Amino acid sequence: MAQLWGGRFTKETDQLVYNFNASISFDKKFYEQDIRGSIAHVTMLEKQGILTEKEKEQIIEGLEGIKTDVENGTLEITDKYEDIHSFVEANLIERIGEPGKKLHTGRSRNDQVALDMKLYTRDEILEFDKLLKELLEVLLKLMKENTETYMPGFTHLQKAQPITLAHHMGAYFEMFKRDRLRMKDIYNRMNYCPLGSGALAGTTYPLDRDYTAELLGFDGPTLNSMDSVSDRDYLIELLSAMSTVMMHLSRFSEEVIIWNSNEYQFVEIDDAYSTGSSIMPQKKNPDIAELVRGKTGRVYGALMSLLTSMKGIPLAYNKDMQEDKEFVFDAIDTTKGCLALFTGMIGSMGFNHGRMEDSAKNGFTNATDAADYLVNHGVPFRDAHGIVGQLVLYCIEKKIALDDMSLEEFRQISPVFEEDIYDAISMKTCVEMRNTLGAPGKAAMEKVIALQEAYLNVE
Ligand code: ARG
Repeated sequence: MAQLWGGRFTKETDQLVYNFNASISFDKKFYEQDIRGSIAHVTMLEKQGILTEKEKEQIIEGLEGIKTDVENGTLEITDKYEDIHSFVEANLIERIGEPGKKLHTGRSRNDQVALDMKLYTRDEILEFDKLLKELLEVLLKLMKENTETYMPGFTHLQKAQPITLAHHMGAYFEMFKRDRLRMKDIYNRMNYCPLGSGALAGTTYPLDRDYTAELLGFDGPTLNSMDSVSDRDYLIELLSAMSTVMMHLSRFSEEVIIWNSNEYQFVEIDDAYSTGSSIMPQKKNPDIAELVRGKTGRVYGALMSLLTSMKGIPLAYNKDMQEDKEFVFDAIDTTKGCLALFTGMIGSMGFNHGRMEDSAKNGFTNATDAADYLVNHGVPFRDAHGIVGQLVLYCIEKKIALDDMSLEEFRQISPVFEEDIYDAISMKTCVEMRNTLGAPGKAAMEKVIALQEAYLNVE
């Protein structure tokens, strides 16, 4: 047991209590951020005349030595220490002696842990930005390649109107673009430095909080020391944003699973991204998509856990807040892993264009266009809707598509139909006529592709 406190205690901590209280098994994850924060802190202390230049240099050298030794494996972070802060400070004192004891001047573990967690979160948000951008790039490529790949668009999982694969991918592009913007918002809102808030009420030392904030790349210092040490809003926001990313990935996974089924066969997941069955030799399962869908629950759970942990905590720091770490670390690792795997799976997936187009043809997805044809020839829409309903019924009985009917058959149901009906209800016309911005028509799609491409080039 190695603790930073003990002066006012007359007994050793019970071992079970020590284990229950300790956080080193998980907060060792941010040893680098802890050291980075300490280096900024002592740099500021020296500028303010609280430490001498020599003391500052010795401390920084010691801290950098700890980082190097941890990274090259010569120094192990063990659970002999209560938390990562105690580990770093104890090691520093072991290395450089007396000056090491001055590191914690004007600082509490409360503002220190608030800083470390913020630095860690900020780094991870930048990782999310990269991962989301990679996914957006794969989606944009699919959009560019598939502006004429026709497929059914669904509502209620019933074939509705024809769209293109580019249009379908474009819907996900919008979702993941919003996810990326959300991450950026969180970054901007959280990017204020809590260091210098002390345990809850600041310190009596003449700290320069603006300077520490600047050294660490923050937009400025936080403005209330009690809030600084007990604010976990940015973690809740991040968990919420990650839950939304997972919800999007899960919806997409669900579609991949359906499209990959024997009945649909719209896609074929690459061998590198599928798994087999131990008993059924013919199987090639979409396990990755299923796991992504499954792991979504875990990230939602983390969000609920932290919201619940926070809801009854009086100001300022309370130990409940230590519970933020495991949930957040797990949710970050899970979401990052899912994003990377999903991007690989989508990027290597084969699309069966013929199956998609046939499916659109055989599902009366051009029925609305047949009704529009009648409307364009003077039939009121409600009557047109009824006429086309009769056509559909006729086709279902004969097991054919609208396009397979002869002109006589069309005219038996309504004399308004002429030879040009075939062109009016062809897949190409049905899609190409839909050129309002955001619609699947090629001209509209190309405008959107150019806008999304410009977004990716700048951001
Ligand atoms: N391990 C603690 C945490 O994660 C660090 C802060 C400890 N502060 C305290 N007053 N006990 O929250």
